Amino acid sequence: MSGRVVGSELIEDARQRGRIVFEILPGDIVTDVARETAARIGIRLVDGPLEKAAPVGSDGNTFMRRGLYRRSAKWVAPARNVKAKARRFSKIALIGAGGVGGNIAHLAAMADMADEIALIDIAPGLAAATALDLNHTGGITGTKARCIGGENLAMVSGADVIVVTAGRARSPGMTRADLIETNARVIRSAAEAIRTGAPEAIVIVVTNPLDEMTVEMLRATGFPRERVLGMAGTLDSSRFRNALAMAAGVTPADVQAITLGSHGEEMAPITSLAKIKGRGLDKFLSQEQIDACVKDAVTGGGQVVALKKSGSATIAPAHSTIELIDHIRGARSGPIPVSVMLEGEYGISDVVLGVPAHLGRSGMISVEELRLTDDEQQALNTAADAIRKRLGMNS
Ligand code: LAC
Repeated sequence: MSGRVVGSELIEDARQRGRIVFEILPGDIVTDVARETAARIGIRLVDGPLEKAAPVGSDGNTFMRRGLYRRSAKWVAPARNVKAKARRFSKIALIGAGGVGGNIAHLAAMADMADEIALIDIAPGLAAATALDLNHTGGITGTKARCIGGENLAMVSGADVIVVTAGRARSPGMTRADLIETNARVIRSAAEAIRTGAPEAIVIVVTNPLDEMTVEMLRATGFPRERVLGMAGTLDSSRFRNALAMAAGVTPADVQAITLGSHGEEMAPITSLAKIKGRGLDKFLSQEQIDACVKDAVTGGGQVVALKKSGSATIAPAHSTIELIDHIRGARSGPIPVSVMLEGEYGISDVVLGVPAHLGRSGMISVEELRLTDDEQQALNTAADAIRKRLGMNS
Protein backbone atom coordinates (compact mmCIF):
# COMPACT_ATOMS: atom_id res chain seq x y z
CA MET A 1 0.00 0.00 0.00
CA SER A 2 1.39 3.36 -0.98
CA GLY A 3 -0.81 5.74 1.07
CA ARG A 4 0.23 8.99 -0.62
CA VAL A 5 -2.00 12.00 -0.78
CA VAL A 6 -1.85 12.85 -4.47
CA GLY A 7 -2.45 16.57 -4.85
CA SER A 8 -2.31 18.81 -7.89
CA GLU A 9 1.37 19.63 -7.28
CA LEU A 10 2.36 15.99 -7.87
CA ILE A 11 0.36 15.95 -11.10
CA GLU A 12 1.90 19.21 -12.28
CA ASP A 13 5.34 17.96 -11.38
CA ALA A 14 4.76 14.79 -13.45
CA ARG A 15 3.65 16.88 -16.43
CA GLN A 16 6.75 19.02 -16.17
CA ARG A 17 8.85 15.88 -16.25
CA GLY A 18 7.19 14.94 -19.53
CA ARG A 19 4.77 12.34 -18.15
CA ILE A 20 1.47 11.70 -19.86
CA VAL A 21 0.34 9.02 -17.42
CA PHE A 22 0.21 9.16 -13.62
CA GLU A 23 0.15 5.87 -11.75
CA ILE A 24 -2.24 5.68 -8.77
CA LEU A 25 -1.04 3.02 -6.35
CA PRO A 26 -3.24 1.03 -3.95
CA GLY A 27 -3.86 3.15 -0.84
CA ASP A 28 -3.27 6.50 -2.58
CA ILE A 29 -5.77 9.26 -1.90
CA VAL A 30 -6.31 11.49 -4.93
CA THR A 31 -7.71 14.95 -4.26
CA ASP A 32 -10.49 16.37 -6.43
CA VAL A 33 -8.21 19.26 -7.38
CA ALA A 34 -5.58 16.74 -8.53
CA ARG A 35 -8.18 15.02 -10.72
CA GLU A 36 -9.24 18.35 -12.21
CA THR A 37 -5.61 19.32 -12.81
CA ALA A 38 -4.90 15.99 -14.51
CA ALA A 39 -7.89 16.44 -16.82
CA ARG A 40 -6.88 20.03 -17.59
CA ILE A 41 -3.23 19.38 -18.42
CA GLY A 42 -3.78 16.08 -20.19
CA ILE A 43 -2.41 13.53 -17.73
CA ARG A 44 -4.16 10.19 -17.54
CA LEU A 45 -4.63 8.75 -14.04
CA VAL A 46 -4.31 4.97 -14.23
CA ASP A 47 -4.66 2.30 -11.57
CA GLY A 48 -1.30 0.75 -10.70
CA PRO A 49 0.93 -0.89 -9.98
CA LEU A 50 1.94 -0.96 -13.65
CA GLU A 51 4.76 -3.12 -14.87
CA LYS A 52 8.15 -1.53 -14.45
CA ALA A 53 10.22 -0.58 -17.46
CA ALA A 54 13.53 -2.33 -17.84
CA PRO A 55 16.37 0.12 -17.29
CA VAL A 56 17.18 0.55 -20.94
CA GLY A 57 18.80 3.69 -22.14
CA SER A 58 21.21 5.21 -24.51
CA ASP A 59 24.80 5.31 -23.45
CA GLY A 60 24.85 8.77 -24.96
CA ASN A 61 27.47 7.80 -27.48
CA THR A 62 26.42 9.95 -30.38
CA PHE A 63 29.34 8.91 -32.50
CA MET A 64 28.41 5.25 -32.32
CA ARG A 65 24.79 6.06 -33.04
CA ARG A 66 25.70 7.89 -36.23
CA GLY A 67 27.93 4.98 -37.20
CA LEU A 68 25.07 2.56 -36.72
CA TYR A 69 22.79 4.54 -38.97
CA ARG A 70 25.39 4.58 -41.69
CA ARG A 71 25.92 0.88 -41.26
CA SER A 72 22.30 -0.14 -41.64
CA ALA A 73 20.13 2.78 -42.56
CA LYS A 74 17.00 0.91 -43.49
CA TRP A 75 16.31 -1.36 -40.57
CA VAL A 76 14.61 1.05 -38.17
CA ALA A 77 11.68 1.76 -40.43
CA PRO A 78 10.47 -1.31 -42.28
CA ALA A 79 9.06 -0.43 -45.68
CA ARG A 80 5.32 -0.06 -45.51
CA ASN A 81 2.68 -0.67 -48.16
CA VAL A 82 5.17 -2.01 -50.65
CA LYS A 83 3.37 -2.54 -53.95
CA ALA A 84 4.64 -6.09 -54.23
CA LYS A 85 2.26 -8.80 -55.40
CA ALA A 86 1.00 -10.29 -52.18
CA ARG A 87 0.23 -13.97 -51.80
CA ARG A 88 -3.40 -14.86 -51.20
CA PHE A 89 -3.79 -17.67 -48.69
CA SER A 90 -6.29 -20.42 -49.18
CA LYS A 91 -7.09 -20.39 -45.46
CA ILE A 92 -6.32 -18.40 -42.34
CA ALA A 93 -7.50 -19.92 -39.04
CA LEU A 94 -7.98 -17.99 -35.81
CA ILE A 95 -8.03 -19.94 -32.57
CA GLY A 96 -9.81 -17.51 -30.27
CA ALA A 97 -12.55 -15.26 -31.63
CA GLY A 98 -12.68 -12.67 -28.88
CA GLY A 99 -11.72 -9.04 -29.33
CA VAL A 100 -8.31 -9.67 -30.88
CA GLY A 101 -9.33 -12.67 -33.04
CA GLY A 102 -12.50 -10.93 -34.22
CA ASN A 103 -10.61 -7.81 -35.22
CA ILE A 104 -7.94 -9.86 -37.02
CA ALA A 105 -10.70 -11.65 -38.96
CA HIS A 106 -12.24 -8.30 -39.85
CA LEU A 107 -8.97 -6.82 -41.09
CA ALA A 108 -8.00 -10.00 -42.96
CA ALA A 109 -11.42 -10.18 -44.65
CA MET A 110 -11.33 -6.52 -45.66
CA ALA A 111 -7.88 -7.02 -47.20
CA ASP A 112 -9.07 -10.18 -49.00
CA MET A 113 -6.10 -12.08 -47.64
CA ALA A 114 -7.57 -15.56 -47.93
CA ASP A 115 -10.28 -17.58 -49.64
CA GLU A 116 -11.45 -18.76 -46.23
CA ILE A 117 -11.12 -17.36 -42.72
CA ALA A 118 -11.99 -19.83 -39.97
CA LEU A 119 -12.83 -18.52 -36.51
CA ILE A 120 -12.74 -20.98 -33.62
CA ASP A 121 -13.76 -20.31 -30.02
CA ILE A 122 -14.96 -22.43 -27.12
CA ALA A 123 -17.60 -19.84 -26.23
CA PRO A 124 -20.80 -21.33 -27.73
CA GLY A 125 -21.93 -19.44 -30.83
CA LEU A 126 -19.32 -16.67 -30.60
CA ALA A 127 -17.13 -17.67 -33.56
CA ALA A 128 -20.11 -18.63 -35.73
CA ALA A 129 -21.79 -15.31 -34.94
CA THR A 130 -18.69 -13.28 -35.79
CA ALA A 131 -18.18 -15.23 -39.02
CA LEU A 132 -21.79 -14.62 -40.04
CA ASP A 133 -21.54 -10.95 -39.10
CA LEU A 134 -18.42 -10.61 -41.25
CA ASN A 135 -20.04 -12.40 -44.19
CA HIS A 136 -22.89 -9.91 -43.93
CA THR A 137 -20.42 -7.13 -44.85
CA GLY A 138 -19.73 -8.74 -48.23
CA GLY A 139 -22.60 -7.00 -50.01
CA ILE A 140 -20.98 -3.67 -49.16
CA THR A 141 -17.28 -4.40 -49.21
CA GLY A 142 -17.23 -6.98 -51.97
CA THR A 143 -14.67 -9.07 -50.09
CA LYS A 144 -14.26 -12.53 -51.56
CA ALA A 145 -13.01 -14.02 -48.28
CA ARG A 146 -15.61 -16.37 -46.78
CA CYS A 147 -15.74 -16.67 -43.01
CA ILE A 148 -16.72 -19.78 -41.11
CA GLY A 149 -17.00 -20.11 -37.36
CA GLY A 150 -17.35 -22.86 -34.80
CA GLU A 151 -16.16 -24.46 -31.60
CA ASN A 152 -14.14 -27.35 -33.00
CA LEU A 153 -10.35 -27.03 -33.16
CA ALA A 154 -10.37 -29.42 -36.13
CA MET A 155 -11.47 -26.40 -38.17
CA VAL A 156 -7.78 -25.40 -38.41
CA SER A 157 -7.45 -28.14 -41.00
CA GLY A 158 -5.52 -27.03 -44.08
CA ALA A 159 -4.78 -23.51 -42.85
CA ASP A 160 -1.70 -21.72 -44.21
CA VAL A 161 -1.50 -19.35 -41.25
CA ILE A 162 -2.97 -19.89 -37.78
CA VAL A 163 -3.23 -17.14 -35.19
CA VAL A 164 -3.71 -18.20 -31.58
CA THR A 165 -5.29 -15.60 -29.32
CA ALA A 166 -7.22 -18.04 -27.12
CA GLY A 167 -6.60 -17.94 -23.41
CA ARG A 168 -7.38 -15.90 -20.37
CA ALA A 169 -6.73 -12.16 -20.58
CA ARG A 170 -5.37 -10.05 -17.77
CA SER A 171 -7.52 -8.32 -15.17
CA PRO A 172 -6.38 -5.03 -13.62
CA GLY A 173 -3.35 -5.58 -11.40
CA MET A 174 -2.34 -8.85 -13.09
CA THR A 175 0.89 -9.19 -15.02
CA ARG A 176 1.00 -11.20 -18.22
CA ALA A 177 3.14 -13.76 -16.40
CA ASP A 178 0.29 -14.47 -13.96
CA LEU A 179 -1.47 -16.28 -16.82
CA ILE A 180 1.29 -18.80 -17.52
CA GLU A 181 -0.22 -22.06 -16.24
CA THR A 182 -3.79 -21.52 -17.39
CA ASN A 183 -2.84 -20.46 -20.87
CA ALA A 184 -0.15 -23.13 -21.37
CA ARG A 185 -2.97 -25.70 -21.26
CA VAL A 186 -4.85 -23.78 -23.96
CA ILE A 187 -1.72 -23.63 -26.11
CA ARG A 188 -1.12 -27.37 -25.77
CA SER A 189 -4.59 -28.29 -26.99
CA ALA A 190 -4.32 -25.81 -29.86
CA ALA A 191 -0.93 -27.30 -30.75
CA GLU A 192 -2.34 -30.80 -30.92
CA ALA A 193 -5.02 -29.75 -33.37
CA ILE A 194 -2.50 -27.80 -35.45
CA ARG A 195 -0.03 -30.69 -35.59
CA THR A 196 -2.76 -33.00 -36.83
CA GLY A 197 -4.76 -30.74 -39.14
CA ALA A 198 -2.28 -28.18 -40.42
CA PRO A 199 1.23 -29.61 -40.12
CA GLU A 200 2.67 -27.13 -42.63
CA ALA A 201 1.08 -24.00 -41.14
CA ILE A 202 2.85 -20.90 -39.87
CA VAL A 203 1.64 -20.27 -36.33
CA ILE A 204 1.44 -16.80 -34.79
CA VAL A 205 1.03 -16.81 -31.02
CA VAL A 206 -0.69 -13.82 -29.40
CA THR A 207 -1.77 -15.46 -26.15
CA ASN A 208 0.00 -14.14 -23.05
CA PRO A 209 2.49 -14.37 -21.52
CA LEU A 210 3.65 -14.08 -25.09
CA ASP A 211 7.25 -15.25 -25.05
CA GLU A 212 6.55 -18.19 -22.76
CA MET A 213 3.49 -19.27 -24.76
CA THR A 214 5.52 -19.17 -27.98
CA VAL A 215 8.04 -21.53 -26.37
CA GLU A 216 5.14 -23.76 -25.31
CA MET A 217 3.76 -23.77 -28.87
CA LEU A 218 7.18 -24.68 -30.29
CA ARG A 219 7.56 -27.55 -27.86
CA ALA A 220 4.02 -28.86 -28.29
CA THR A 221 3.91 -28.71 -32.10
CA GLY A 222 7.52 -29.73 -32.66
CA PHE A 223 7.51 -27.24 -35.57
CA PRO A 224 10.76 -25.58 -36.65
CA ARG A 225 11.38 -22.14 -35.20
CA GLU A 226 10.75 -20.57 -38.61
CA ARG A 227 7.06 -21.46 -38.36
CA VAL A 228 6.26 -20.46 -34.77
CA LEU A 229 6.27 -16.71 -34.24
CA GLY A 230 5.14 -14.58 -31.33
CA MET A 231 3.38 -11.27 -31.92
CA ALA A 232 4.53 -8.58 -29.53
CA GLY A 233 7.22 -6.37 -31.02
CA THR A 234 5.01 -4.86 -33.71
CA LEU A 235 2.47 -3.92 -31.03
CA ASP A 236 4.95 -2.60 -28.49
CA SER A 237 6.84 -0.68 -31.19
CA SER A 238 3.62 0.95 -32.36
CA ARG A 239 2.85 1.97 -28.79
CA PHE A 240 6.39 3.33 -28.42
CA ARG A 241 6.11 5.32 -31.66
CA ASN A 242 2.76 6.70 -30.56
CA ALA A 243 4.18 7.82 -27.20
CA LEU A 244 7.20 9.46 -28.86
CA ALA A 245 4.96 11.17 -31.42
CA MET A 246 2.64 12.54 -28.74
CA ALA A 247 5.53 13.81 -26.64
CA ALA A 248 7.24 15.46 -29.62
CA GLY A 249 4.02 16.85 -31.12
CA VAL A 250 4.47 14.99 -34.42
CA THR A 251 2.52 12.14 -36.00
CA PRO A 252 3.52 8.48 -35.47
CA ALA A 253 4.45 8.29 -39.17
CA ASP A 254 7.31 10.70 -38.39
CA VAL A 255 8.74 8.29 -35.83
CA GLN A 256 10.97 5.27 -36.42
CA ALA A 257 11.47 3.13 -33.35
CA ILE A 258 11.33 -0.48 -32.27
CA THR A 259 11.11 -2.43 -29.05
CA LEU A 260 12.89 -5.73 -28.53
CA GLY A 261 13.11 -8.17 -25.60
CA SER A 262 10.08 -9.61 -23.87
CA HIS A 263 6.42 -8.59 -24.06
CA GLY A 264 6.26 -7.43 -20.48
CA GLU A 265 8.41 -6.00 -17.78
CA GLU A 266 11.64 -6.80 -19.59
CA MET A 267 10.64 -5.05 -22.79
CA ALA A 268 13.53 -3.16 -24.34
CA PRO A 269 12.47 -0.05 -26.27
CA ILE A 270 15.57 0.82 -28.27
CA THR A 271 16.08 4.53 -27.75
CA SER A 272 19.59 4.78 -29.18
CA LEU A 273 18.40 3.90 -32.68
CA ALA A 274 15.03 5.67 -32.62
CA LYS A 275 14.45 8.68 -34.84
CA ILE A 276 11.93 11.47 -35.12
CA LYS A 277 11.82 13.04 -38.57
CA GLY A 278 15.09 11.30 -39.26
CA ARG A 279 16.91 12.76 -36.28
CA GLY A 280 17.84 11.41 -32.84
CA LEU A 281 15.29 11.62 -30.02
CA ASP A 282 17.46 14.10 -28.10
CA LYS A 283 16.83 16.70 -30.80
CA PHE A 284 13.15 16.76 -29.80
CA LEU A 285 12.79 15.38 -26.29
CA SER A 286 14.43 15.68 -22.88
CA GLN A 287 15.76 12.52 -21.21
CA GLU A 288 12.78 12.68 -18.81
CA GLN A 289 10.37 12.73 -21.74
CA ILE A 290 12.18 9.83 -23.43
CA ASP A 291 12.03 7.84 -20.17
CA ALA A 292 8.30 8.59 -19.92
CA CYS A 293 7.77 7.31 -23.47
CA VAL A 294 9.69 4.11 -22.67
CA LYS A 295 7.44 3.61 -19.68
CA ASP A 296 4.37 4.34 -21.77
CA ALA A 297 5.38 1.60 -24.25
CA VAL A 298 6.03 -0.93 -21.49
CA THR A 299 2.79 -0.17 -19.65
CA GLY A 300 0.62 0.48 -22.73
CA GLY A 301 -1.22 -2.85 -22.58
CA GLY A 302 -1.68 -2.49 -18.82
CA GLN A 303 -3.14 0.99 -19.27
CA VAL A 304 -5.83 -0.41 -21.56
CA VAL A 305 -6.56 -3.23 -19.08
CA ALA A 306 -6.83 -0.69 -16.25
CA LEU A 307 -9.31 1.42 -18.20
CA LYS A 308 -11.43 -1.50 -19.43
CA LYS A 309 -11.44 -3.29 -16.05
CA SER A 310 -12.14 -6.53 -17.86
CA GLY A 311 -10.24 -7.79 -20.89
CA SER A 312 -7.25 -6.32 -22.66
CA ALA A 313 -6.50 -4.32 -25.79
CA THR A 314 -7.99 -5.64 -29.04
CA ILE A 315 -7.57 -3.19 -31.92
CA ALA A 316 -3.84 -2.46 -31.80
CA PRO A 317 -2.98 -6.14 -31.18
CA ALA A 318 -5.07 -7.09 -34.23
CA HIS A 319 -3.32 -4.55 -36.47
CA SER A 320 0.03 -5.69 -35.14
CA THR A 321 -0.78 -9.31 -36.02
CA ILE A 322 -1.90 -8.25 -39.48
CA GLU A 323 1.48 -6.52 -39.88
CA LEU A 324 3.17 -9.92 -39.38
CA ILE A 325 0.75 -11.62 -41.80
CA ASP A 326 1.42 -8.87 -44.35
CA HIS A 327 5.12 -9.66 -44.18
CA ILE A 328 4.45 -13.38 -44.54
CA ARG A 329 2.25 -12.87 -47.60
CA GLY A 330 4.69 -10.44 -49.18
CA ALA A 331 2.61 -7.27 -48.91
CA ARG A 332 5.31 -5.60 -46.81
CA SER A 333 9.01 -6.14 -46.56
CA GLY A 334 11.95 -5.34 -44.31
CA PRO A 335 12.83 -6.52 -40.82
CA ILE A 336 10.18 -6.24 -38.12
CA PRO A 337 10.31 -7.09 -34.44
CA VAL A 338 8.91 -10.55 -33.80
CA SER A 339 9.35 -13.10 -31.02
CA VAL A 340 11.35 -16.08 -32.25
CA MET A 341 13.44 -18.86 -30.76
CA LEU A 342 17.03 -17.65 -30.73
CA GLU A 343 19.84 -19.93 -31.79
CA GLY A 344 22.85 -17.87 -30.87
CA GLU A 345 21.74 -14.53 -32.31
CA TYR A 346 22.53 -11.70 -29.92
CA GLY A 347 24.56 -14.29 -27.99
CA ILE A 348 21.32 -15.89 -26.74
CA SER A 349 20.04 -19.43 -27.27
CA ASP A 350 17.11 -21.68 -26.39
CA VAL A 351 14.68 -18.94 -25.51
CA VAL A 352 12.06 -16.95 -27.42
CA LEU A 353 12.70 -13.23 -27.49
CA GLY A 354 11.62 -10.24 -29.55
CA VAL A 355 14.24 -9.41 -32.20
CA PRO A 356 14.12 -7.85 -35.67
CA ALA A 357 13.61 -10.52 -38.34
CA HIS A 358 12.70 -10.90 -41.99
CA LEU A 359 9.52 -12.87 -42.69
CA GLY A 360 8.25 -14.46 -45.88
CA ARG A 361 6.19 -17.31 -47.29
CA SER A 362 8.00 -19.90 -45.21
CA GLY A 363 7.78 -17.90 -41.99
CA MET A 364 10.88 -16.46 -40.38
CA ILE A 365 13.68 -16.11 -42.92
CA SER A 366 16.46 -14.60 -40.85
CA VAL A 367 17.12 -12.67 -37.68
CA GLU A 368 18.62 -9.22 -38.21
CA GLU A 369 21.46 -8.67 -35.77
CA LEU A 370 21.77 -5.02 -34.86
CA ARG A 371 24.74 -3.64 -33.06
CA LEU A 372 23.12 -2.53 -29.81
CA THR A 373 24.55 -0.42 -27.04
CA ASP A 374 25.85 -2.31 -24.01
CA ASP A 375 22.76 -1.29 -22.03
CA GLU A 376 20.42 -2.55 -24.73
CA GLN A 377 22.27 -5.86 -25.10
CA GLN A 378 22.12 -6.20 -21.33
CA ALA A 379 18.36 -5.60 -21.43
CA LEU A 380 18.01 -8.49 -23.92
CA ASN A 381 20.10 -10.75 -21.68
CA THR A 382 17.96 -9.79 -18.69
CA ALA A 383 14.78 -10.54 -20.65
CA ALA A 384 16.14 -13.93 -21.74
CA ASP A 385 17.04 -14.84 -18.16
CA ALA A 386 13.64 -13.78 -16.85
CA ILE A 387 11.78 -15.85 -19.46
CA ARG A 388 13.97 -18.90 -18.77
CA LYS A 389 13.28 -18.51 -15.07
CA ARG A 390 9.52 -18.26 -15.57
CA LEU A 391 9.69 -21.41 -17.70
CA GLY A 392 11.68 -23.22 -15.03
CA MET A 393 14.75 -23.53 -17.28
CA ASN A 394 18.28 -23.19 -15.97
CA SER A 395 19.98 -19.98 -17.14
C1 LAC B 1 -1.39 -6.17 -24.94
C2 LAC B 1 -1.73 -7.61 -24.85
C3 LAC B 1 -2.27 -8.13 -26.13
O1 LAC B 1 -0.21 -5.83 -24.82
O2 LAC B 1 -0.64 -8.35 -24.42
O3 LAC B 1 -2.30 -5.37 -25.14
